[in-house]
Amino acid sequence: MRMVDLIARKRDGKELTTEEINFFIQGYTKGDIPDYQVSALAMAIFFQDMNDRERADLTMAMVHSGETIDLSGIEGVKVDKHSTGGVGDTTTLVLAPLVAALDIPVAKMSGRGLGHTGGTIDKLESIQGFDVEITKEQFLHLVNEHKIAVIGQTGNLTPADKKLYALRDVTGTVNSIPLIASSIMSKKIAAGSDAIVLDVKTGAGAFMKTTEDAKELAHAMVSIGNNVGRKTMAVISDMSQPLGEAIGNALEVQEAIDTLRGKGPKDLEELCLALGRQMVFLAGKASSLEEAEEKLKEVIANGKALEKFKEFIANQGGDPSVVDHPEKLPQAKFKIELPARKSGKVAELVADEIGTAAMLLGAGRATKESQIDLAVGLMLNKKIGDAVEPGESLVTIYANRENVDDVIQKLYESIVIADDAVAPVLVHDIVT
Ligand code: URA
Ligand code: CA
Repeated sequence: MRMVDLIARKRDGKELTTEEINFFIQGYTKGDIPDYQVSALAMAIFFQDMNDRERADLTMAMVHSGETIDLSGIEGVKVDKHSTGGVGDTTTLVLAPLVAALDIPVAKMSGRGLGHTGGTIDKLESIQGFDVEITKEQFLHLVNEHKIAVIGQTGNLTPADKKLYALRDVTGTVNSIPLIASSIMSKKIAAGSDAIVLDVKTGAGAFMKTTEDAKELAHAMVSIGNNVGRKTMAVISDMSQPLGEAIGNALEVQEAIDTLRGKGPKDLEELCLALGRQMVFLAGKASSLEEAEEKLKEVIANGKALEKFKEFIANQGGDPSVVDHPEKLPQAKFKIELPARKSGKVAELVADEIGTAAMLLGAGRATKESQIDLAVGLMLNKKIGDAVEPGESLVTIYANRENVDDVIQKLYESIVIADDAVAPVLVHDIVT
């Protein structure tokens, strides 16, 4: 088999066979096939697309390029949730204990990553003592006994994806549906769960800027999952403005606690229920999505979800008293209000710009080496559609430096007040 023939066939709009896809992924992972040939193939795929069978084959070839996690020692249907990424997305912190409270095993492997705030692990580390550096044995034991555990990224998962994603990044081939869908799904499948719920974001703060693109990506990922034997569903959700009110690590832990108590921001609660009901349904704990949602509401109302969060914190060495004493979370030195300069309704809260403002405060990492400040961030006091009067606070800035002029300027640039505005639809579509 010659790589040049594969490139030419795809260039001419032909299908690649399973053997050809395995050949190129294995050869590329080992270093036998050079970057220039793979970048030519990626560009051919960008223009000519791949059919469902090729997408599934590409995904599984990447899964098999490295280690995979074996969760078969855990009883029950393991359901994972994945978000394509947004600003102030607190859903994982809420959903993990919420779903575990219904006896559904949550075996979460999570990263730190780059972004406007830290990843789930960084957020959890704002709880004193919380440890994600547990052994695989402890991890499996905790999930079997308590239905919930989080572990930092271990092992060499999907090395082919790492190499290919880095190459796409510098060859103008990131934005290709078959390549994005196989990249995301390969990582989820290698992480070992039986079923996958996807939260595909759309809007300014999202990877997919339009709902049409988000839907296409969601359909592509759901087909791949179902074609390779993992039950998969997706929700298309709004990310034109940040989710909930908190953007920041400790602030989001607090927001998750409020939500588990039934007192969180309405949009965050709505999205957690939309995603959670798919997780409960796929786990076989309810016979309809409606029944699944009822069960979730019940464990919020009766306090079991919050109890599960405390149990989870204690199991991993953290101090569960933060749940009732949020003042024990890292606190910022300065709280600065951002007053509205005119009256009207909030028309825009541009998600990625607001995320950048949080990052300027130190809430996220710009490079892998950056240190995160867990205490800092933003609390949105108004969301799109809310009325404001001059002088009213739009945002509370939690800072560890006194002068935040750069953050204030960035926020004013990203908040638009107009005569009229309505809140955006949160859940655009459900893909099954
Ligand atoms: N995120 C991924 O993990 N892969 C892509 O290709 C794009 C976004
Ligand atoms: Ca939030």
